Amino acid sequence: MSAPLAGMRLVVSAGPTFEDIDPVRFLGNRSSGKMGFAIAAAAARRGAEVVLVAGPVQLPTPPGVARVDVRSAAQMFDAVMAALPCAAYIGAAAVADFTPRAIAASKLKKQPGQDTLVLELVKTRDVLAEVAVHPQRPRLVVGFAAETDDVARYARDKLERKRLDMICANRVGLAGSGFESDDNALLVIDANGERALGPAPKAELAAVLLDIIGGRLQAGGAA
Ligand code: CTP
Repeated sequence: MSAPLAGMRLVVSAGPTFEDIDPVRFLGNRSSGKMGFAIAAAAARRGAEVVLVAGPVQLPTPPGVARVDVRSAAQMFDAVMAALPCAAYIGAAAVADFTPRAIAASKLKKQPGQDTLVLELVKTRDVLAEVAVHPQRPRLVVGFAAETDDVARYARDKLERKRLDMICANRVGLAGSGFESDDNALLVIDANGERALGPAPKAELAAVLLDIIGGRLQAGGAA
């Protein structure tokens, strides 16, 4: 295969984050990491230098990819920022929006007669939105969104609000699409319009996505 992305550095985030409550419990989500890993693999196959910042998943590291394992949203934020500068950031991770205000040092014990537990959560920093306004902003900042209805409208809103160049909306709720599946369906939106991809295997979607991203990067020269 030719190497259209040779000389370019891409940073990809993938998987869920786990937000610890105490030494034995955490808040997580159902992201499998498969889409982000497929994107990292496709980028490396096209000759890019790829840093994959991975949340807690049991997936093999794609050939030629430099992997940084993290657990929490805060760790993902630090790892992504440390990986800048790059030509493109692709935020495929399902980063927790909220995290416990404090991690209990010892296991929380239920009290006799206790029927409820209130956890106080605080907002995490938005990795994607902060990459998009960073002094070392990548030329291309690509986000993901999971939407059930009004997919295009909500995704466009996120594209503008987070100052992205492109957003890939997961059309969740379709059969054979989404978090744990090997297949996915995406609506890719940028300033030029929108394009529906799939349902198709995540590896195939990643290849098409990387062709789109590669085309945009090549139009602007190497970085
Ligand atoms: N994201 C991030 N850091 C966060 C939260 C989200 O980088 N703390 C990124 C994800 O990697 C993804 C995009 O933002 O690229 C998802 O945006 P988000 O607003 O979290 O989407 P949803 O959870 O789908 O949105 P909503 O709250 O509108 O349902």
